[in-house]
Amino acid sequence: MSKDALIFYSEFDDPAAWKKTLTAELPDLDFHTDPGAVDPAAVHYALAWKPPKGFFARFPNLKLVTNLGAGVDSLVGRDDLPDVPISRLSDTGMVSLMSSYVLFSVIRYARDIYIFERAQRRGEWKYVHPRALSDIKVGVLGLGELGAPAAQALARTGFDVRGWSRSLKDIPGVRCSNGMEALDAFLRSTEILVILLPLTPETRGLIDARRLSLLPEGAKLINASRGAVVDESALIAALQTGHIAEATLDVFTVEPLPKGHVFWGMENVLITPHLASITVPEAAAREVAESIRRVRSGLAPLHQVDPRRGY
Ligand SMILES: NC(=O)c1ccc[n+]([C@@H]2O[C@H](COP(=O)([O-])OP(=O)(O)OC[C@H]3O[C@@H](n4cnc5c(N)ncnc54)[C@H](OP(=O)(O)O)[C@@H]3O)[C@@H](O)[C@H]2O)c1
Repeated sequence: MSKDALIFYSEFDDPAAWKKTLTAELPDLDFHTDPGAVDPAAVHYALAWKPPKGFFARFPNLKLVTNLGAGVDSLVGRDDLPDVPISRLSDTGMVSLMSSYVLFSVIRYARDIYIFERAQRRGEWKYVHPRALSDIKVGVLGLGELGAPAAQALARTGFDVRGWSRSLKDIPGVRCSNGMEALDAFLRSTEILVILLPLTPETRGLIDARRLSLLPEGAKLINASRGAVVDESALIAALQTGHIAEATLDVFTVEPLPKGHVFWGMENVLITPHLASITVPEAAAREVAESIRRVRSGLAPLHQVDPRRGY
């Protein structure tokens, strides 16, 4: 008979690696991947990424659902979510991967590397006088577990950084603003826009044609959060006119980005296949185990999500 059991579900993540790392942290945890092989009443924790509809209903004693990733949009939008604490992954490994993606993408524009990539393909020695990083205005939308460290890393590198979120933040070296009333001014003063907002009913399509037009002529856009935060048709139009000069896109409304999609043919778009930050079980298991320990002692888990807020 199983005791304090966890059910794991993911079509992408390696259950063996998770079992090894998680049971090293919690030797008494009964780790299962087969819902048919465990007493449903013993399952207290679910660690899952996009499980099929109805998945949670068979476990009547769930105490914690942990989303096997940082973005919870596919989880909190479900109508079969149990009424238990929901947590998401976040760990230093994910944070440094995202910060490195953002730094790379911003520096590629700030240091004109994209121009040299194209010049080299033409066999052309093209000198572009570098700008001081302190003159380059970078704006980070979303100052959460990934956005705040990315903004701080940009500030430490020497950029003129501003950040925007729902509640006001205090981040060294970052000019912070918050709320919808501050968004237009934030966009007007941003040359390189980094999007790290979760996808929620409020942020879906937030970066639309009007807001793109507020960015200065020739602005660059980097989206590493969710494709649908940006109106992709409006972005394509802005990239075609050159109002948005360049974009680095890790995420898309439809993934994988369909063959023949207009983005594939745009020289001013760098496409990466949704990997700006990934979860490594070795790094994340400690946090998941700590959440389970907390729930066992009647406390809230780490990185708790508010399903009504959507993130
Ligand atoms: N491409 C990838 O590989 C990858 C990997 C991991 C995650 N992601 C995406 O990145 C997103 C951000 O991750 P995270 O861990 O930093 O998220 P998070 O910790 O939930 O932070 C979200 C941030 O967005 C702000 N925000 C949310 N709704 C807002 C609104 N309506 N108006 C203004 N600000 C709003 C929040 O403001 P408050 O601080 O005031 O609440 C917070 O600062 C995830 O949701 C996920 O979609 C992508």
